[in-house]
Amino acid sequence: MKKKIVVFGSFVVDLTARSPRLPMPGETVLGSAFSMGPGGKGSNQAVAAHRAGADVTLVTKVGQDVFGAVATDFYERERMDTRYVLKDAHHETGCALITVDEHSAQNEIVVISGACGCLTEGDVEKCRALIEGAGLLLVQLEVNFDALFRVIKIAHEAGVPIVLNPAPAKELPDEILRMIDVVTPNETEAQLLTGVEVKTEADARRAAEVFLSKGVKQVVITLGSMGAFAMDRERSELLPRLEVEAVDTTGAGDAFNGGFVTALSEGADLFTALRWGNVTGALSVTRLGTAPAMPRRAEIETLYQKVYG
Ligand code: RIB
Repeated sequence: MKKKIVVFGSFVVDLTARSPRLPMPGETVLGSAFSMGPGGKGSNQAVAAHRAGADVTLVTKVGQDVFGAVATDFYERERMDTRYVLKDAHHETGCALITVDEHSAQNEIVVISGACGCLTEGDVEKCRALIEGAGLLLVQLEVNFDALFRVIKIAHEAGVPIVLNPAPAKELPDEILRMIDVVTPNETEAQLLTGVEVKTEADARRAAEVFLSKGVKQVVITLGSMGAFAMDRERSELLPRLEVEAVDTTGAGDAFNGGFVTALSEGADLFTALRWGNVTGALSVTRLGTAPAMPRRAEIETLYQKVYG
C-alpha cells in the first residue's frame, strides 16, 4: 500500500531567462527567451511525486496576488490537493530569478521566499494532524527555519520518517540532523553540512559517514555529472548519471527527490528508490522549466525498465 507523502516547503513563481551564457558580475547579456511558471523546491518536489504516482499533499504559503494564483491554477489543472496551500494576507508570493545557459543547460538562481518564508506557528498547528498522519514527510530549506523546525519535531515525535533535501545550502544544528531518516544533499550542500569537500566517490562516502555519525539513517548525495551516491549502515553504491539531451537542469534535484520519495512511499528500498530518483531527474532535464518539466509515471516506468529492468 502507498504511504501518504506530505511535503512541507516553498512555492515561488519562476521568472526564467534563457541566454547564450550566464552573465559575469556587472555584465548585461542579451537573452533569447523569457518564461514565467510555477516553481519553488517544495512545490516542484510535490509536483514530481504527484506526477510519479504518489499520494501527496503539499503544505505551502502564497500571497493573495497574481503569483499566488499561478500556484492554485497549476495545482487545479494537475488535480493536486490544494487544502494546505495557505494564504498570507500581508506578504506577497515568493519568486525566483533564474538564468539558464542555453548551451550548457546550467543555471543560476536567486530566490525570494516571500509568503512561504513567513509560515507561522498557527500555520504549523493547522497542519499538525496531516503531518502526524503522514507516511513520510519531505522537507527542504526554502521556508523559514522556525516553522520547519516545528514541523520536523512534530513528525519525529509521531514516528513519521523524514526525508530532508537540504537545499538551498544552509548550516543546520545537529539537533535537526538527529531527527532525519534520509538526507539528500548535492555536493555543495553535503560539504557545508559535513565539512567534507565532495569531489570523488571516496569523498561522498566520507561525507555520508559524517551524516550517519550524526544520527541520519540513510544518505543520498547527488553528484552532478558523476551520478548519485547512496549509503546506509550496511551498503553503499555509486549510480552513474543517465545520458540524456539536457536543455534545462533547473529543478533536476527536485525531480530526483520527487521520484525518490515516491518509490520509498511504495515500499522500495534505498537503492531502488535511488534509481527512481535518477530516472525522474534525467527525464526532467530534457524539457524547459521546473514543475511543468516533471515527468509522468508512464515515462518514468518506461525509462526505468529500459535502463534497470
Ligand atoms: O530547484 C529549483 C527551484 O529552486 C526553482 O524552481 C526555483 O524556484 C528555486 O526555488
